[in-house]
Amino acid sequence: MKVFVTRKIPEPGLELLRKKFDVEINPYNRVLTKQEIISGLKGKDGLLCLLTDPIDKDVIFSESKVKMIASYAVGYDNIDINAATKHGIPVSNTPGVLTDATAEMAWTLLFSVSRRIVEADKFTRAGKFKGWDPLLMCGQNISNKTLGIVGAGRIGTAFALKSKGFNMHVLYVQRNINELLERELKAKKVELFELLKSSDFISLHIPLNKETYHLIGEKELKMMKKTAVLINTSRGPVIDEQALVKALQEKWIFGAGLDVYECEPNISEELIKLNNVILQPHSASATIESRTKMALLAAENMIAGLKGEIPPNCVNTEVFQKKSIT
Ligand code: DGY
Repeated sequence: MKVFVTRKIPEPGLELLRKKFDVEINPYNRVLTKQEIISGLKGKDGLLCLLTDPIDKDVIFSESKVKMIASYAVGYDNIDINAATKHGIPVSNTPGVLTDATAEMAWTLLFSVSRRIVEADKFTRAGKFKGWDPLLMCGQNISNKTLGIVGAGRIGTAFALKSKGFNMHVLYVQRNINELLERELKAKKVELFELLKSSDFISLHIPLNKETYHLIGEKELKMMKKTAVLINTSRGPVIDEQALVKALQEKWIFGAGLDVYECEPNISEELIKLNNVILQPHSASATIESRTKMALLAAENMIAGLKGEIPPNCVNTEVFQKKSIT
C-alpha cells in the first residue's frame, strides 16, 4: 500500500511507515498547496497530514482512493470530518503525547509575560540597564493569585495541575465537572464571564469549532482585570485578534502570550510592534520527545487504519459502525 506524507516528520515515525508501506514525502521544506496535496494523493491509500493542510471536501472527494487519514496533531479543525465520515474514511489524531509540552509552554508564556522577560532581555542587551531601579520592569506576582482555565480537558487539566506549587485559586470553564481538578486543587467550575472577571491569569485550552470561534472578543477582553494576563496555546481564531490588539494597545489588560494566531502564519503587524505580548511560532508541542511520539502515534494509527482496524486514536469511529452495518 502507498502512503503520502505532506511534510517531513521525525524519522522514527517515517521508519515505522516505511516498514509497512511505500512512502512518498513532500519533497519541499514548506506547506503544500491544496492542489499539490490532491496531486500527491493520486494512487495513495493513506494520507498523513499536518494541521497546516486544509483537508476539505475538495481533497477528500478528489479522485484519490484514500482509505485512512492520520493527522500529525491533536487538533483536527483543518479536516472536514463529516466529509471523511461520509466517505467511510477513518481520521486519527495524536492526543496525550503533547499534553505536558503544551501545558509547559502555556506556563512559560504565563511567567514570561507576567515578569516581562522578553522586554527585559531586549532592554538589557541594548545596554539600557544603568543600575538597579525601584521602578524598573515591574510585573505581576503569580503565587496566591486566581488562575482561570477555559477548557479543562486533557491539556487544560495538566496546565492547572502544574499550578500546585503556587497556591493558586483555580477557576475553570468546562461543560462537565472536572473531578480531578476539584479534588486536587479545590478548583471551581464557573461561567465564562465569571472566570474572565475574577482571574488574574486566563489560559485557553479549547478546540476550534463554531462555538469557540472568537470566544474572546472586545466584550470579553473588557471584562478582564486591567492586570490580567491572557495565554493562548490552543487555536488562533478563538480570539478576535483585532480586538486583542486594541486591548493591548489601550492597556485593557496587562499582557498576552500567544502561540497561535487568527490567520496563521500571518500575524497582525500591530501585534508585532507591541511590548506587552510575547509571540511564539505555534511551537507549544515542539519538544523532541513530543514531536517524536506524535510521529510514532500517527504512523501506528495509519498502520491500524490501513489494516481495516479501528486506529487507536480514531476521531470518527462512526465509520466503523457504518461499515459493520453494511
Ligand atoms: C496540535 O497538535 O494540535 C498542536 O497545535 C500542534 O502540535
